[in-house]
Amino acid sequence: MKIVNSVEKMQSEALRFKREGKTIGFVPTMGALHRGHLSLMDIAREFCDILVVSIYVNPTQFGPGEDLDRYPRNFKSDREKCEKHSVDIIFFPNDSQIYPEGFSTQLEVKGISEVMCGAYRPGHFAGVTKIVAILFNIVQPDYAIFGKKDYQQAAVIKRMVVDLHFPVKIVLGDTIREPDGLAMSSRNKFLNESQRKSSSALYEALKIARDKIENNPKISSSRVIDEMKEYIDSRGDFEIQYIFIGDSETLEWVESPGNRECVIALAAYMGNTRLIDNILVNR
Ligand code: PAJ
Repeated sequence: MKIVNSVEKMQSEALRFKREGKTIGFVPTMGALHRGHLSLMDIAREFCDILVVSIYVNPTQFGPGEDLDRYPRNFKSDREKCEKHSVDIIFFPNDSQIYPEGFSTQLEVKGISEVMCGAYRPGHFAGVTKIVAILFNIVQPDYAIFGKKDYQQAAVIKRMVVDLHFPVKIVLGDTIREPDGLAMSSRNKFLNESQRKSSSALYEALKIARDKIENNPKISSSRVIDEMKEYIDSRGDFEIQYIFIGDSETLEWVESPGNRECVIALAAYMGNTRLIDNILVNR
């Protein structure tokens, strides 16, 4: 396994693999790797010749007052995990390599970036699309693997790839969960014991809502959401930021979720920790 810090070196390695006719699979991450990240590497490993993982905490996707400074960083343990999952290259750049002095390009995917998390984290998805486009140009992957855990992020990136004709195929991996259902996240370690216990309520609420819609196709989204809020509030000290039911591809609001493929997505605070999760309905 190689660790590559420079953009030029990563680009020349990628070109060499391409000349040799090898396919490159790419898993972009911000490090603090857990089983969710590792499952994406395993997916890529199965059908790509070369597996590249990037570890870069991208400052442009964090808003003022968000947790950029306390975002967990642990390169040594990340490196060991990558080694165990047969990663060929870790691309581990620093800020000045990624964002050259004078950087002034903006990249925004309208509409789909403005609902759900986008409505509460202005500029977040502009930061994500910027870094992902930059990383695609550096790593030149044939396949890039993203998690359904960040459903909106994946939907926005898919839109960007179509719009800008990036020669990469986006593959989505299922959300990996703790035994009680809580979606794995680098931020879960900020939960105290009692917060951690009640946080499984979010996935419970999503499953209940999915079953309700699938068993009662005439139900309205507003009613489903009211019932979810009631359930979540009864299970712990949550501050729900949003619950949204949208078309699984365009993320446009759906009022009658009964007979189409939708995503139910939510964000809630447990103390200072923001948790997100989602579930697909009528797949
Ligand atoms: P990060 O939060 O590190 O996540 C990296 C990838 O792992 C994303 O595709 C995310 O959806 C996926 N992931 C996270 N938790 C998961 C889980 N429990 N199950 C399955 N997959 C999971 O997402 C980012 O980084 C950044 O925004 C990035 C795309 C790297 C751009 O900076």
